[in-house]
Amino acid sequence: MARVVIFGKQDLAELAHYYLTNDSEHEVVGFSVSREYLDGQATFIGLPLVCFEEVEDTFPPDEFSFFAPMTHAGMNRTREKVYRAIQLKGYAMISYVSSKATVTNNQIGENCFILEDNTLQPFTNIGNNVVLWCGNHIGHHGEIKDHVFLTSHVVVSGHCIVEPYSFIGVNATIRDGVTISEGSLIAMGALVTKSTEPWGVYKGSPARKGDKLSNEI
Ligand SMILES: CC(C)(COP(=O)(O)OP(=O)(O)OC[C@H]1O[C@@H](n2cnc3c(N)ncnc32)[C@H](O)[C@@H]1OP(=O)(O)O)[C@@H](O)C(=O)NCCC(=O)NCCS
Repeated sequence: MARVVIFGKQDLAELAHYYLTNDSEHEVVGFSVSREYLDGQATFIGLPLVCFEEVEDTFPPDEFSFFAPMTHAGMNRTREKVYRAIQLKGYAMISYVSSKATVTNNQIGENCFILEDNTLQPFTNIGNNVVLWCGNHIGHHGEIKDHVFLTSHVVVSGHCIVEPYSFIGVNATIRDGVTISEGSLIAMGALVTKSTEPWGVYKGSPARKGDKLSNEI
């Protein structure tokens, strides 16, 4: 059991508080945001809200852990910055895996947020700072690398590799053996039959590379 500080004070922070409180062994003790986002606020949903720049004064890293459930803004690079800033302060970071997810022999990294109805088949590993929203199928003998965000009801077939920073939209389907290259943006409903190019945007059935800049999501 860890005593956990959650980074953020918006929807994802509130959801993380809900899931950790109702479906984990951990205790949420407070929240933290960067000074510029504090706006004079001292509490969030009844718990202390602390300036991140001085968070160790209230919650020292040898006694408390962190959880940073961030959105995919900036193609997951904002999430990465926050994750690294928390690491630099020396905090351990927990992961949340829903009790309603089906997990097999998967290795799962730190600061992962894995919600209900995800299925992780055997021999597939999950990196650090990965979000698997609800209801995804992650096939066998694959790998989801760091800072990846899967939305909902994505099918990642067997033997697929999803490289860092990629975003996969709702109801996308990835054919077995495909590599989703670094920073790929897979649109909602895309049917990906071939490996993608780094930082490409793919949509349609079969998915074709488009011209939208992936850092716009
Ligand atoms: C790919 C995506 C990023 C494009 O965003 P965008 O550039 O703002 O796209 P627009 O909404 O302006 O649409 C541009 C055109 O592409 C089409 N289009 C948009 N998304 C599409 C998709 N997933 N598949 C096929 N066509 C799509 C639109 O119909 C529109 O066509 P038109 O020009 O003929 O009218 C976005 O549609 C998407 O899929 N986002 C993921 C959403 C998601 O999964 N959210 C989950 C919650 S986190």
